[in-house]
Amino acid sequence: MSTVDPVTPVLTKRWLSPRSWSIQTYEQLEGYTAVRKALGATPEQIVQVVKDSGLRGRGGAGFPSGLKWSFMPPNEDKPHYLVINADEGEPGTCKDIPLMMADPHSLIEGCIIASYAMRSHHCFIYVRGEALHCIRRLNQAVAEAKAAGYLGANILGSGYDLEITVHAGAGAYICGEETALLDSLEGRRGQPRLKPPFPAAAGLYAAPTTVNNVETIASVPYIINGGSDWFRKMGTEKSPGPKIYSISGHVEKPGQYEAPLGTTLRQLLDMAGGMKDGIPLKFWTPGGSSTPMFTAEHMDVPLDFEGAAEAGSMLGTTAVQVFNETVSVPWAVMKWTQFYKHESCGKCTPCREGTYWLTQILERMVDGNGTEEDIDTLLDVCDNVLGRSFCALGDGAVSPIQSGIKYFRDEFLALCQKNREKNRKPALAGAN
Ligand SMILES: Cc1cc2nc3c(=O)[nH]c(=O)nc-3n(C[C@H](O)[C@H](O)[C@H](O)COP(=O)(O)O)c2cc1C
Ligand code: SF4
Repeated sequence: MSTVDPVTPVLTKRWLSPRSWSIQTYEQLEGYTAVRKALGATPEQIVQVVKDSGLRGRGGAGFPSGLKWSFMPPNEDKPHYLVINADEGEPGTCKDIPLMMADPHSLIEGCIIASYAMRSHHCFIYVRGEALHCIRRLNQAVAEAKAAGYLGANILGSGYDLEITVHAGAGAYICGEETALLDSLEGRRGQPRLKPPFPAAAGLYAAPTTVNNVETIASVPYIINGGSDWFRKMGTEKSPGPKIYSISGHVEKPGQYEAPLGTTLRQLLDMAGGMKDGIPLKFWTPGGSSTPMFTAEHMDVPLDFEGAAEAGSMLGTTAVQVFNETVSVPWAVMKWTQFYKHESCGKCTPCREGTYWLTQILERMVDGNGTEEDIDTLLDVCDNVLGRSFCALGDGAVSPIQSGIKYFRDEFLALCQKNREKNRKPALAGAN
């Protein structure tokens, strides 16, 4: 078996090239070679290669991509849609926008191959509305691809037609949830839909639809060119392939670092120049704020889907947010909870009410007015949100609180004890 250098870039290999976003640079660096191969194969063959590669969704849940594609019906009674989830709202996550800015054609080539494999003739890229620069860049790239014959009618003389529409969202975290995204794309208020039916049966405009993350689809051209065995040489057996880890917070060189799945925080910190000013690590998230936090004890956990789960968290979006000893855990947890309260779509009671009450309690604690009972109340409210909410936003909202109290209960207690001291003083003063 040949070895693959663990840091040989795949997904980010063009990012530092001059005008990396232009079609000329893309074509000079192997771009649009995979689509030629793919259009010479059958849709079933493409689905099989992606299945064999073991590619798993990079949007958070890690669902096997080839299997997801195989749920699309083989007939074409109704239009089929591929929808790219470029909403990227998870706190700490910042890999998809850099990917689309630096190398938009890798996403477009992936869209063509995936659409062909799923018999779709219309693909939508749903981009976070605030990312206007990215929307402009994608529109430019789509126009370039069309002018070069990679999009539109009869692509490269294959008889296959595809249009891509870049759609701007309006900046709501919940619109990253795939069914809320579809509602938003249809022009409705973005709220999650009841499943089943799943999108492959009834998605966009009630037609068969697959929703995939940007990084998932941008991985596809490399799989077609390199083959599934090559892809499996990177990462771990159950979580193969390269991954973009977004490292933010108290590190010397925050940024996007590509590494195989299964890389540890210790290795990522080496790549990112270590902890900023040498101040020790206190806590970190392996995949955004919806994934339970880790501590300095977890620096050697392999960051793949299995490794993160076995250690009590989730891989999520590989948004590695690093916090040093100067940061108060209750304060950070409060900030995240305020975010979830703001972003709760209000459709279901546990999340709508729960995030409201959790925020109230945490704000009270951080303001120095909490009680020790508040810690139990927090955990009790979390129990009533987790697993009882309509979508995964509710589950994600309680992750920072539960894990924060699990690892740093003393810090929450200290805040409350300080408050008890504060309240006791006037009484003592009166007694004198
Ligand atoms: C509240 C919430 C927000 C989400 N935001 C995103 C997002 O911004 N981008 C994304 O790709 N997936 C997001 N997801 C996951 C999507 O629902 C879906 O699983 C994903 O787009 C599927 O693509 P994949 O299989 O390629 O990972 C979110 C899920 C939830 C519950
Ligand atoms: S869990 Fe929250 S975001 Fe999801 S449907 Fe319920 S209220 Fe909306």
